[in-house]
Amino acid sequence: MKLLVCGGAGFIGSNFARLRLLEHGDEIVVLDKLTYAGREENLHDIREHAGLRFVHGAIEDAEAVAGAIEGCRAVVNFAAETHVDRSIAEPDAFVTTHALGTYVLLEAARERGLRFLQVSTDEVYGSIEEGSFTEHSPLAPSSPYSATKTGADLLVSSYFHTYGMETLICRGSNNYGPYQYPEKLIPLMVLNALAGDPLPVYGDGMQVRNWLYVTDFGAAIGHVLAHGGPGEVYNVGGPDECPNIEVVHRICALAGRDPAELIEHVTDRPGHDRRYSLSSEKVRALGWEPRMRFADGLEQTVAWYRDNPWWWEPVRSGDYREYYARQYGRELG
Ligand code: NAD
Ligand code: TYD
Repeated sequence: MKLLVCGGAGFIGSNFARLRLLEHGDEIVVLDKLTYAGREENLHDIREHAGLRFVHGAIEDAEAVAGAIEGCRAVVNFAAETHVDRSIAEPDAFVTTHALGTYVLLEAARERGLRFLQVSTDEVYGSIEEGSFTEHSPLAPSSPYSATKTGADLLVSSYFHTYGMETLICRGSNNYGPYQYPEKLIPLMVLNALAGDPLPVYGDGMQVRNWLYVTDFGAAIGHVLAHGGPGEVYNVGGPDECPNIEVVHRICALAGRDPAELIEHVTDRPGHDRRYSLSSEKVRALGWEPRMRFADGLEQTVAWYRDNPWWWEPVRSGDYREYYARQYGRELG
């Protein structure tokens, strides 16, 4: 199958492209705007593969989409602005990419009669103190990131109801693994811990996230693309949940650092969701299971960052330093 993978130079999209190309023999066209988070380095080992074509362009640009989509049988849309803290500081790009970009892609897919899978997030449901959200839970996003992702989901569903288009939505929980930009909790803490920099934990650190290894999410997306019912939504949660403070303690242990020396409790994120949790029964009934437990995945992730400074050294020495100083009110060491 030939797939248009939008946002395929980002963290999850590049892992997905690698999985489909090398393990399933799909042809892949990556369409990516290469924002600060999108990097061709994420595709370094498959960039020259005969089955991969890379197109530099934005999903809100109809011409770029038309140039990339020819010959594809389905569209998988990962393209997004993905960081909650940035959406609080500067929401503009979130609205453009999630609302306008998703619309342009949907139109291109509708014109050509293509299957369309939207990659979405557990954050559309908001926070839950106990239990887990199902696909029927009300949508209650709390940040500009999750609100614009919710808008995109609703637009995708409207193309099923209105035009009978074959749409699918996968709502994943927090992903982790190789090639994740170090603004997110796990890679930020891993790189800071390896460097001996302070570890900035928001508030009391008792917020809970449900951790999903990135290739498990990629496998679920591929599975839903092949077997999902048109118009359906599938939650994809990880096998283990963990409070942030415990995640940071585990990273310290794996990096050989003393948490008491490095952890700093800093001002909490405004509107911070306390806990995310998904019921994944529906996608499990379709035949998908997560393979990676959090303890193993975290160990492998710390090892990957330790072994691949070529990947993160340019990030940590570039614009990221300015972002870090703005966000955390201190310079990286
Ligand atoms: P990422 O920030 O690493 O990658 C996003 C990619 O999209 C980048 O390559 C970027 O250049 C590209 N992009 C951004 N705007 C674009 C535009 N207008 N046109 C074309 N390309 C554009 O993000 P990620 O963590 O890989 O997330 C991918 C998707 O998965 C997103 O839709 C996100 O909402 C969803 N998701 C992420 C997580 C997570 O924990 N990271 C969990 C569940 C769902
Ligand atoms: P993040 O990786 O930004 O993902 P999301 O907000 O989409 O869940 O954050 C995960 C959790 O880690 C969240 O509760 C916020 C917290 N966090 C910190 O405590 N310190 C940090 O420096 C970052 C980036 C996140």
